[in-house]
Amino acid sequence: MRLDKYLSDMGLASRAELKKEIRAGLITVNGESVRDPGFHVEEGMEICRKGAPVRYEAFVYYMLNKPAGVISATEDHRQKTVLDLLPKEHRKGIAPVGRLDKDTVGLLLLTNDGELAHRLLSPKHHVDKLYYARVRGRVTEDDARAFAGGLRIAGELLCLPARLEILFVGAARESAAAESPEENTGDISEVRVTIQEGKFHQIKRMFEAVGKEVIYLKRLSMGPLALDPELPEGSCRRLTAEELDALFAVL
Ligand code: URA
Repeated sequence: MRLDKYLSDMGLASRAELKKEIRAGLITVNGESVRDPGFHVEEGMEICRKGAPVRYEAFVYYMLNKPAGVISATEDHRQKTVLDLLPKEHRKGIAPVGRLDKDTVGLLLLTNDGELAHRLLSPKHHVDKLYYARVRGRVTEDDARAFAGGLRIAGELLCLPARLEILFVGAARESAAAESPEENTGDISEVRVTIQEGKFHQIKRMFEAVGKEVIYLKRLSMGPLALDPELPEGSCRRLTAEELDALFAVL
């Protein structure tokens, strides 16, 4: 592989900037400065950039705290996508693992590892996805029993049993979490829902099936991977080695 491609695949900077760095002698191969961007890198060579080793990783994994208003796609002519939230140099070949609706926020994994994505999404692996939701009206234990029994959504699709935990039911103005003026009237409920699949608008449609409307939805975790509470909405970071080990361990 060419030296400039090796470095740009690791998302260090744009290919053009990296070419400049190579020509400026900032890159060494096995301790020797190499000034040719087309230099052929072979396995076992040690590449350093400004003295720091750069190891080649075929796959990259990002945790994104998805904000509302962006779509879970890789490109779109009119709307902002989750890929637009990654640094430009890091976008090649990357896709979100599954989808969150445009107005849903929270944990989204992005990777170029198609095999991992496939396994995480496959219903065969029963990976739990945990959501926090605010719902208009009063969610009841009957609703929780209906979720646990496997709901039929849109009159036909049968969902796997899901766990519904009720955190708060009461006047919206008493809920510390209510944010928008439309949430500030009437009763609302705060709940946590765990599902093992990802049907289109699944949580919203499950609540619809029990006559209620989701007004805020946030994904908190996917299998062992939990949304980093320090990660601001709209930001992403690489997964840590521990997070990756935990993810691979469940598949
Ligand atoms: N369920 C939904 O309804 N929307 C999402 O974005 C995720 C799960």
